[in-house]
Amino acid sequence: MSDSLDLAAFPADFTWGTATSAYQIEGAAAEDGRSPSIWDTFSHTPGKVDNDDHGDVACDHYHRWPEDIALMKRLGTDAYRMSIAWPRVMPAGDGPVNAPGLDFYDRLVDALLTAGITPNITLYHWDLPQALQDRGGWTVRDTAEHLAAYASVVAERLGDRVTRWATLNEPLCSAWIGHLEGRMAPGLTDLTAAVQASYHLLLAHGLATRAIRAAVPGAQVGLVTNHSTVEAASTRPEDIAAATRMDGHINRWWLDPVYGRGFPADLRELYGVELPERPGDLDTIAAPLDWHGLNYYFPATVTDDPRGPVPYAREIRVPDVPRTGMDWQIDADGLEALLLRLTDDYGVRELYVTENGSAFPDTVSPEGTVHDPDRARYLEQHVSACARAVRKGAPLAGYYAWSLLDNFEWAYGYDKRFGLVHVDYETQTRTLKTSGRRYADIIRAHRQMRP
Ligand code: IFM
Repeated sequence: MSDSLDLAAFPADFTWGTATSAYQIEGAAAEDGRSPSIWDTFSHTPGKVDNDDHGDVACDHYHRWPEDIALMKRLGTDAYRMSIAWPRVMPAGDGPVNAPGLDFYDRLVDALLTAGITPNITLYHWDLPQALQDRGGWTVRDTAEHLAAYASVVAERLGDRVTRWATLNEPLCSAWIGHLEGRMAPGLTDLTAAVQASYHLLLAHGLATRAIRAAVPGAQVGLVTNHSTVEAASTRPEDIAAATRMDGHINRWWLDPVYGRGFPADLRELYGVELPERPGDLDTIAAPLDWHGLNYYFPATVTDDPRGPVPYAREIRVPDVPRTGMDWQIDADGLEALLLRLTDDYGVRELYVTENGSAFPDTVSPEGTVHDPDRARYLEQHVSACARAVRKGAPLAGYYAWSLLDNFEWAYGYDKRFGLVHVDYETQTRTLKTSGRRYADIIRAHRQMRP
């Protein structure tokens, strides 16, 4: 099967990895000086998360990381994309550093390197210290400055061993889902707050980029954003205009300023919210990056929705197409298209797929195995899409499967499983799924092609 994947398209030094994030796997929520994040608050608010699940224990990775690194070894991955929990390192969000929190990541990095796995560190994957939320969170400029200070602390400690850094993961979700749709922490439904948050997140990205580079000469700094291809539901002019608005909302708003084009004028007008701009901010946001991380899961098909929420475009459910257990449409061509758009329209010089994967309901057989052919197929289809993009000129340097482990899937709790490794949350038993074996095969097959 791997033969049909065109693995020869990938460069010999292509990086194969897995990805996770701190709040989704670590647990140990109140251990060693960690303070609550907005996700602790949100998940402990009844009704916000399915089954009222929360990340208090999650995969207990905080204690079981040696076993999890051993799983990465079994997969044969080159790299591991992980995030640092800001509330572990700087519990108040600013000010004193919590030594045991930072020590945890120090040990983890050492163990990864000893195992021959390169860490790729994301500084912010949504777990804002609650103390900062209480002071305005992402709606205030100070939070961007605090992220940069926290980035300096982490980079100074780990930068002698870690080269590859991402500032933020999916700022779209923090701003739009967390402040406009209210489905994620902090759970606001306020357009002004959302637009301010989007601005301060991108500013934080720029400031943190500068801070990491100051602390780590030679650091490779990138940003991780999530995108979808957007199609109009019909040829009606209203639907075509709606698709343009949605594309702006989920794609251009996040890419244009980072690649020096400023915030798109059509969206500024649509939102009608004054941006908290100061001289020099746009240059900070557009600091040239060493790499860009694309997270891709599904495409969007939209119809005009003049009475709906911003951007007055509603996603429709396309009938008779394959879907994952999240009810997300499966469309690997979308990944190819987005990789080429980042290459051709934005001039990205080094690209990674920093997340891609699928949730399906898994069952553990009486023999203790987990057979998940749907997830394995999704993986193959998307690796193939990457190969096509490389053949067409995308400077794709790596692929990180989401996720190493089943984990806390935010507002969906633990029912949605994205792992290549199954986690039994009662016993914390880890079981490599068929998809994990398939990924190991792919990596091995590509490695055999290396000169
Ligand atoms: O689990 C998330 C991850 O934290 C961010 N990107 C999407 C994944 C699947 O929903």
